[in-house]
Amino acid sequence: MTTATAHSNIALVKYWGKRDRRLNLPATGSLSLTLGELTTTTTVREFSADTVLLDERPAPDPFARKVVAFLDLLADDLGLERPPLLVQTANNFPTAAGLASSASGFAALTVAAVAALGASRSPEELSRLARQGSGSAARSLHGGWVEMAAGVRDDGADAVAHLVAPADHWDLRCVVLVTAEGAKSVGSTDGMERTAQTSPYYDAWVSGVPTDLADARTAVVERDFERLAVVAERSCMRMHASAMAADPAVVYWNGASIELIHRVRALRAAGHPVFFTIDAGPHIKVFCPPDVVPIVRDAADDVVVDSIESRPGGPAIITVD
Ligand code: DP6
Repeated sequence: MTTATAHSNIALVKYWGKRDRRLNLPATGSLSLTLGELTTTTTVREFSADTVLLDERPAPDPFARKVVAFLDLLADDLGLERPPLLVQTANNFPTAAGLASSASGFAALTVAAVAALGASRSPEELSRLARQGSGSAARSLHGGWVEMAAGVRDDGADAVAHLVAPADHWDLRCVVLVTAEGAKSVGSTDGMERTAQTSPYYDAWVSGVPTDLADARTAVVERDFERLAVVAERSCMRMHASAMAADPAVVYWNGASIELIHRVRALRAAGHPVFFTIDAGPHIKVFCPPDVVPIVRDAADDVVVDSIESRPGGPAIITVD
């Protein structure tokens, strides 16, 4: 029996589009911060039949099927016969709210399952494996500031995540402003697929990412808040613009999302160090230094249904073996 924990992460330079669907290879690189307060804990052990529990209850069918298919993929990749397995996974944040549970989920599952199957792999290999469950999960193998490479190889061996700077490099906080209950309307896999197939802006989006990545990497290494603010908002807006131009349009924002975009921009114009990013859902993630968190919460108070403050988090680890 093995238990692993992994944290979610939020991309500042977004991953949106694949160069290979089967191996789940991203069309571009991406850069993220791992979030210490958003955690998945997963236990894997031998059992009488493949069984998946989510938050202590039998997991919904599509979820369970995805987990079992991923266990098969792992065993195949490791060259092992696998026994039937019990997977117990739990998030300390609301799964249905559309927060990034697949990133922490597949990272924790990869680490726990590889160890439960008696294998051992480097963080890079684990990142390559986790990527096949979900692209953003490859980044959650590491803590802190992480860059995912698109890679150029057909087999995806170089599509792995690397550490840019550890969690203690720069104490920025991420305040997740939850603007609605319930799951997102279009999952990220489908949203990016539709964007790639039908949006006239998709190619423009892809071609802009290398510049954003170089800028974001430098901004993180030099702890240059203003530079990171500009590139993160640009990457977010371009990703969403490409999605909104798909046919039919992929629109993740609700009214509160737009209201909060304006409020964050107004705070920055008034001299407060804040910026926002948004993933495949209506919630706004605001980055700022620790002392600015109350100002952000205050400004958002009448619009949000909940807010979660997170500091930079560490890598995926085995907690029980
Ligand atoms: C908007 O990693 O969920 O959060 O690889 O298809 O599972 P799949 O997609 P996923 O997409 C994440 C999209 C994003 C941006 C990001 O995290 O980089």
